[in-house]
Amino acid sequence: MKTIRNIMVAVFCGLLFTPAVFAGDDKDEGMFSFFKRHKGVEVVSNKTYTENCGECHFAYQPGLLPRRSWQALMTPARLEDHFGENAELEDADRKAILEFLSSHAADDSSYKRSIKIRKSLKEGQTPLRISEVPYIRRKHHELGRREIEDNKDVRFAGNCAACHRKAEKGIYDEDSVSIPNYPDWED
Ligand code: HEC
Ligand code: HEC
Repeated sequence: MKTIRNIMVAVFCGLLFTPAVFAGDDKDEGMFSFFKRHKGVEVVSNKTYTENCGECHFAYQPGLLPRRSWQALMTPARLEDHFGENAELEDADRKAILEFLSSHAADDSSYKRSIKIRKSLKEGQTPLRISEVPYIRRKHHELGRREIEDNKDVRFAGNCAACHRKAEKGIYDEDSVSIPNYPDWED
């Protein structure tokens, strides 16, 4: 019995000290860091993706939408009419991009923003825009036409990188936001 108790104590102490091992720069601080909750959104790159999907707007990180949204966006029919533009792809490229987006989507991500995005969606809810994800909408509810559509340096809500200066690095926190032409904006 004693041995079993000793083993249990050892395992418990091991768990207690594990967070220190995992604590790193790119992770959330705090004792829960051992659940591997990283900050921001995962930054990943894929040449075919950036070349084809970073042409008209910044290449959104795959972790900004669930897999089912990427699947819906990447059908040949939807690409042909992609928010009023033609974003058609050769089938091999389309499949490779979909594979890339699916394998890094919000569903299984351990990154903070992706977790919040996925938790804010109801089961089966499939937004075709990041700007329509409930969590993202909530975070921008104080912004209106003046700051977005009528702002010549922003123009659409999906233009994340216009306001989030570190968007390309997967960082969307409030410290790195500045709205073009509204430098004094405060919430
Ligand atoms: C020919 C230009 C063009 C290309 C190429 C293109 N897009 Fe888009 N994309 C647009 C436009 C235009 C919008 C809508 C902008 C607006 O809201 O007015 C858009 C919007 C989006 C949005 C929604 C953004 C939001 O939250 O409002 C996603 C997601 C997206 N594109 C993904 C992709 C992916 C993935 C690819 C590559 C397969 C791609 N785009 C290629 C023009 C393009
Ligand atoms: C017109 C400028 C603008 C655009 C475009 C924009 N944002 Fe934001 N975003 C803001 C502002 C302002 C805040 C609020 C910062 C604050 O709370 O002080 C914010 C907040 C956020 C937050 C929450 C930050 C926090 O610390 O809680 C996230 C996540 C975010 N935005 C992601 C996005 C994504 C993803 C896109 C593109 C789909 C986007 N934003 C487009 C201006 C913008």
